[in-house]
Amino acid sequence: MKALVLAGGSGTRLRPITHTSAKQLVPVANKPVLFYGLEAIAEAGITELGLVVGDAHAAIEAAVGDGSAFGLQVTYLRQEAPLGLAHAVLIARDYLGDDDFVMYLGDNFIVGGITGLVERFTAERPAAQILLTRVGDPRQFGVAELDADGRVIGLEEKPEHPKSDLALAGVYLFSPAVHAAVAECKPSWRGELEITDAIGHLIESGQRVESTMITGYWKDTGNVTDMLEVNRLVLESAEPRVEGLVDVASELIGRVVIEPGAVVERSRVVGPAIIGGGARIRDSYVGPYTSIGASCTVTGSEIEYSIVLPRASIAEVGRIESSLIGHDVEVTPAPHTPRAHRLVLGDHSRARISS
Ligand code: G1P
Repeated sequence: MKALVLAGGSGTRLRPITHTSAKQLVPVANKPVLFYGLEAIAEAGITELGLVVGDAHAAIEAAVGDGSAFGLQVTYLRQEAPLGLAHAVLIARDYLGDDDFVMYLGDNFIVGGITGLVERFTAERPAAQILLTRVGDPRQFGVAELDADGRVIGLEEKPEHPKSDLALAGVYLFSPAVHAAVAECKPSWRGELEITDAIGHLIESGQRVESTMITGYWKDTGNVTDMLEVNRLVLESAEPRVEGLVDVASELIGRVVIEPGAVVERSRVVGPAIIGGGARIRDSYVGPYTSIGASCTVTGSEIEYSIVLPRASIAEVGRIESSLIGHDVEVTPAPHTPRAHRLVLGDHSRARISS
C-alpha cells in the first residue's frame, strides 16, 4: 500500500501566513501540522509516499526532504493548480500504479493514527473506505448519507441542505478501482474535480464503499480558529521538560516545554505551553495553550492561547490572545502621542484591535 498526501491547496483562509508558506507547515506545538500526518502514515507501516504539492512546493520540500527522517520514501508530484482532490489522484495515476493507497489531506489532524483503518481496509478490501465524523455545520464539508445498516448510499460536496451531519474527514482508502471513477468526474460548481463525486461513481456502479466513524478527535486546520484549537489539544498532552535556561526570578507552572537554547527571565509561563529553541522570554507572561516558535523574543508582554512562528518579536505591547503571528513579525508599541495604531500589515492580514 502507498500513501498519497495532499499539500497543494492555496490556504486562502490562513492568509497572510500562506502567502509565504504552506498551510500544512503551520506549526502545532512547534511542529508542522503535516508532520503529524506523515508520522501516522509511517506508523501504519507504509513507506512509499507521494506528496502532492502546489505553489508552496519549495517550502514543503525543504521541510520534508526525501522523507527519510520519517522512515518514508517521498516522491513529489506537482499539481499546477488546486483543481480538486480527484485531480490530485489523476496526476498521481502513474505513481500509484495498481496499488491500494491511503489518501491523506495534509492539513487534517487526527488523533489516534490510521493503523486501525489501514488494517480494516486490507482485511475487507472494499473499493473505498471513508472516514466520517459528526459536525455542527456539515455545509462546509463533504457529507455522507447512510442507509439503516450504515452503508454509504450517497455523498454530496458542501451541500446547501445536508442530508446528515456526517462529514467526510480527510483520510480515504482506495483500491485501484478509484481511477476509473476519477476519470468520470467533471468539474463541480467550484471548478474542482471532487473526490466525493468519484466515490459517488463507485457507489452508483455497485461497488462496495465502507465507512468508519472517527472515535477520536479530528480537525481540518484550514482556519486560524481550528489551528489554535488543535494546538491546544496537542499541548495538553505534551510531556513537560526544561532544556533551556530559566532564571530564579521566573516561574513555570503546569505542562511547560522549554526547548534547548531558550531563555526565560523574570517571567511566568503557565502551561500547557512550549517555548522553542533559542527563544527569549523576558519580563513577560506566557499563558496556557501557547506555542512560541524558535528564536522568538517576548519582552514585557502577555500572551495566551496563541501560536507564534519562528523569529517573531513581541515587545511591550500588553496582552495578546487567540492570535497567529507569522515568521519574523515585529509587534512593538507605538510612541505615546499621538495615540494611534501604526501598522504594516501584509496582504490579507487581519488585525483586531481593542481601542
Ligand atoms: C475537502 C473535501 C471534503 C472533506 C474535507 C475534509 O474539502 O472536499 O469532502 O469533508 O476536505 O477536510 P476542502 O478542504 O477541499 O474544502
